Amino acid sequence: MDNRPIGLLDSGVGGLTVVKKVLEKMPHESTIFIGDNAHIPYGDKSKEEIIALTSKSVQFLLSQNVKLIIFACNTATAVAMETIQPEITPCIIGVVQAGSQAALTKTQNKKIAVVATAMTIAQHAYQKELGKLDPETQVTEIAAPELAPMIEKNVASAVKLAAVKKTLRPLANSEVDTLILGCTHYPIIQQEFRQALPANVQIVDPADQVAESAVLTLEKAGLNSSKAQHAQHEYYTTGDVLAVNQLGRIVLDDPDFSAYQL
Ligand code: DGL
Repeated sequence: MDNRPIGLLDSGVGGLTVVKKVLEKMPHESTIFIGDNAHIPYGDKSKEEIIALTSKSVQFLLSQNVKLIIFACNTATAVAMETIQPEITPCIIGVVQAGSQAALTKTQNKKIAVVATAMTIAQHAYQKELGKLDPETQVTEIAAPELAPMIEKNVASAVKLAAVKKTLRPLANSEVDTLILGCTHYPIIQQEFRQALPANVQIVDPADQVAESAVLTLEKAGLNSSKAQHAQHEYYTTGDVLAVNQLGRIVLDDPDFSAYQL
């Protein structure tokens, strides 16, 4: 039994899509989330910058005595997880492995597309993971550098839909039957993705599987919180608190959502 919180990090509000699933699956667990909104987008930065920024967020979470860390950011998972995990004691769960597993349970024809930040695509993070899990998988990779910043700015739905349609053009006439949302910001505009895709293409939000992996990891390590514990949730941002609060309330469907400034 361990009542310490689970820590989660992202470059911005996208990580709250993962927090949401963690809260649904583990109502007794406390959480601490840090969004590095001052430095979004991570997807356009160098590997060194991404590792340095992610390390800073990890240090903050460690200072809060977390028992497990979830990289609720594909870009940080793709670039920084391997470097940081050996340096710290708490286990890190990333989103790429979980998203790949989830996609393989959905696809019928093993033709999978992934849309993600420029860095996640440049690292071929999903292509490599899917190839490891099932070498017969054919992966179409699409970089969408403009989507995460657009979501952070909360632009009009029509603008987001037009951007999603443009992003998905490489899939026209393809046989892909499954699309992985390879950036944690994208589930916020899942509706626009749904509208832009043919009905036969299934959408995978890795967050469900991430939360499931967290459940299993805590169970295996005997780190579950007591069911009697009243879970507490804290949110921190390096950016503009008012903007984060506005979006956070929508993403978590919680009118009381309120972030602290770091
Ligand atoms: N949410 C982050 C991810 O999953 C990306 C956004 C960014 O570029 O910072 O990759």
